[in-house]
Amino acid sequence: MPTSTEPQIHPLLRERWSSRSFDPTHELDEGELEQLLEAARWAPSAGNSQPWAFLALKRGEQPHARFVQTLSRGNTPWVPNASVVLVSLFKAGDDEDPSFTYSDYAEYDLGQSVAHLTVQASALGLGVHQFAGFDHDAVAREFGVPANWKVTTGIAVGRYVGPDEASVDAKWDGRERVRNPLSTFVFSERFGEPRWS
Ligand SMILES: Cc1cc2nc3c(=O)[nH]c(=O)nc-3n(C[C@H](O)[C@H](O)[C@H](O)COP(=O)(O)O)c2cc1C
Repeated sequence: MPTSTEPQIHPLLRERWSSRSFDPTHELDEGELEQLLEAARWAPSAGNSQPWAFLALKRGEQPHARFVQTLSRGNTPWVPNASVVLVSLFKAGDDEDPSFTYSDYAEYDLGQSVAHLTVQASALGLGVHQFAGFDHDAVAREFGVPANWKVTTGIAVGRYVGPDEASVDAKWDGRERVRNPLSTFVFSERFGEPRWS
């Protein structure tokens, strides 16, 4: 469920959360899917290197069924209900020499593009739940990922169901959502000395 924060943050951020309860009948149209990826596309990146890629896997299509086989046990009950799974990848090595790091900030840039995508999803009234629990090597093999690209996360996108609807995961969705206070990670004078206590 969404959180209440102090000071207040923008509703698109405040109302974002990771549910495990997706509507298994909801379908994402191609226009919405493109909008999400367009948001990712316009993220900043080091030297405008744009070192990201996505596999777009829609529920009901064959590539999605191939991906679902790779899910960890904990993610198998809920990920298949999402309308789409995006698999995120970043360019880790150079095209010519995969052992040569492409950009020191490639993974950072990918994360930022996914953050853009999640805000766009919130604006469209869609839920997003990112996950790492799947067989990354199997996905790389199955989808022909080149050696210099690294499979990173799955991003489940769809419509969240309400608390009374079928397929709700009450245990996960009822969990307490907590965050570290700003005093533990915002410093000015010296690392470890809180700017605000
Ligand atoms: C890189 C990454 C990996 C994650 N892996 C999983 C996962 O495998 N399964 C899962 O249910 N949630 C996964 N999550 C979701 C986190 O548990 C969730 O974002 C965190 O508990 C904070 O909750 P919130 O997103 O509702 O604020 C992952 C999130 C990220 C960013």
